[in-house]
Amino acid sequence: MTARPWTATVLTLFPDMFPGPLAHSIAGKALERGLWAVEARDIRAHATDRHQSVDDTPFGGGAGMVMRPDVVDAAVAASADAPGPLVYLTPRGRPFDQALAAEWAAGPGVRFLCGRYEGVDQRVLDKRRPVEVSLGDFVLSGGEPAALVMLDACVRLLPGVMGAAQSLAEESFENGLLEYPHYTRPAEWEGRDVPEPLLSGHHARIDAWRRAQAEEATRTRRPDLWSRYAAARDEVNMARNEGAAR
Ligand code: ADE
Repeated sequence: MTARPWTATVLTLFPDMFPGPLAHSIAGKALERGLWAVEARDIRAHATDRHQSVDDTPFGGGAGMVMRPDVVDAAVAASADAPGPLVYLTPRGRPFDQALAAEWAAGPGVRFLCGRYEGVDQRVLDKRRPVEVSLGDFVLSGGEPAALVMLDACVRLLPGVMGAAQSLAEESFENGLLEYPHYTRPAEWEGRDVPEPLLSGHHARIDAWRRAQAEEATRTRRPDLWSRYAAARDEVNMARNEGAAR
């Protein structure tokens, strides 16, 4: 018996958008190898009227259309067999980040509910209580591109998908810092040299240079990440000093 692979179930009005770009590169190879699976299910299959309508005009007026609660609820009910948390993609949600990708990747899969138009009727969200997640502070035309991006972030964390586990541990966000810059051959290109420590062969020097570069990039580019990192570091140092003083 083979265990069921990590599975993304996507409730969408546009099932043809999946796997889309995830059929290529690292995620695509992993999909072919059966390391994960994606199943896109058409929300419209749950429409009940003769026009197969899934949306209607908003009460109170305003632009756009709202997805009907009865249709969305039926689609969610029919996905009860699928593994993982129910996630509703919306700019009103909690910001997606590496920690959430890691949490989802550690589970059996995720169920994404993708809205189109102005979103879904609030009552179905109140009833189903999905985790509401945003890709960032901008508005997409629907949840599908956000689901594709979040899936990419999860899939590359699944066991066996990426070759070197070391490169996962060292990359941006894993330690609260942006990553250090990378260089490859040629050692001199258009008059630009590779930083000397990287050519030294001394692992301790290389590590120290990379750490300093990562810290500098984080401090100057992402003051928000830097304050969190610096606070955590100071706390560790304080605890260490207290221990030493005792
Ligand atoms: N749907 C529309 N905009 C979105 C965003 N920023 N994140 C997630 N889902 C969305």
